[in-house]
Amino acid sequence: MPKHTIVLIPGDGIGPEVSSAARRVIEAAGLEVEWVVVPAGADAIERHGYDNVLPDVTLDAIRQHKIALKGPVTTPVGKGFKSVNVQLRQKLGLYAAVRPVRSLAGIKTRYEGVDMVIVRENTEGLYTGIENEITPGVVTSLKVATEKACTRIAQYAFHYAMQRHRRKVTVFHKANIMKLTDGMFLNCSRRVHEEQYPEVAYDEVIIDAGCMKLVQDPTKMDVLLMENLYGDLVSDLCAGLVGGLGVVPGSNIGADSAVFEAVHGSAPDIAGKGLANPLALIMSGVMMLNHIGETAIAEKIKTSYNRVLADGKPNTLTRDLGGTASTSDFAEAVIAKL
Ligand code: NAI
Repeated sequence: MPKHTIVLIPGDGIGPEVSSAARRVIEAAGLEVEWVVVPAGADAIERHGYDNVLPDVTLDAIRQHKIALKGPVTTPVGKGFKSVNVQLRQKLGLYAAVRPVRSLAGIKTRYEGVDMVIVRENTEGLYTGIENEITPGVVTSLKVATEKACTRIAQYAFHYAMQRHRRKVTVFHKANIMKLTDGMFLNCSRRVHEEQYPEVAYDEVIIDAGCMKLVQDPTKMDVLLMENLYGDLVSDLCAGLVGGLGVVPGSNIGADSAVFEAVHGSAPDIAGKGLANPLALIMSGVMMLNHIGETAIAEKIKTSYNRVLADGKPNTLTRDLGGTASTSDFAEAVIAKL
């Protein structure tokens, strides 16, 4: 019997390529694992014949096994089905998206020493998707903030900061305009700080100025706490500070289960060409291994990809990092260093 059973969702676009690379690296590093492979996204309908982009078989597998590694899935723009990711996070109560953004040796960017973590509320805000046409030519979108969810995500961020000896939690908000919803987010954050985590440093910034500060000097930032939409946007912005979407991992954490996935999407522009960088999903796999207590295997993989990056050989770096390696070439290079 393998020690772990983990759900694997290959996803759409570059998803199958990067998830197969991550799976190979994790297995080569020695994890005793049985993968339960289930579909989501267009893949569920087109290849597996389900009538739904998030079939029950997928939700049930995650509920049963608690841990999933997930490739990206495509969501149609301006029409079609509700985002699979939003549904998955809401249905499984994966309330905290945790996205570490760090400078990596060997990846040259404008900044050095970036080391921050975005903690994004993952279940409400504008992503409830409650939109209405009031009358032709007038549409609305409802932003929802509940005290329960705002408090829960603030507790998660402060707890995370304290456990990992981080310097500070900074809330990004727009409570000057959205006085009730972002006001609720801010008030809950302040209360959690004052009542439960006064020893963690805390500050807040209006998000527009926060974005300016991020691009001026991201090394001044530490744990960034924000609601759903802001966290989505700021994650990609921050990815751009450390080498792009190919190098930023993530996790979606709930009380009962956790789904690990990269920040990037299904990248239809490069899908099926072997051009995708699998590192972000491999790093998400490392987060998953730490989460399930396989810290030695996690460390082994981390050391290996860091060595590949530090070597900086064009034939072992993918194109987004200036190299010529394919998705599987990169995975093989990491495996060779294990
Ligand atoms: P995207 O993240 O898929 O791509 C943005 C740009 O980054 C593209 O030029 C792409 O080629 C590049 N890129 C992304 N990941 C890369 C990787 N691993 N290696 C090298 N280059 C990479 O964002 P986009 O184009 O806005 O969205 C495409 C689709 O993905 C949409 O349907 C969107 O809804 C979905 N999406 C899914 C997510 C998920 O499943 N977690 C997250 C974000 C978007």
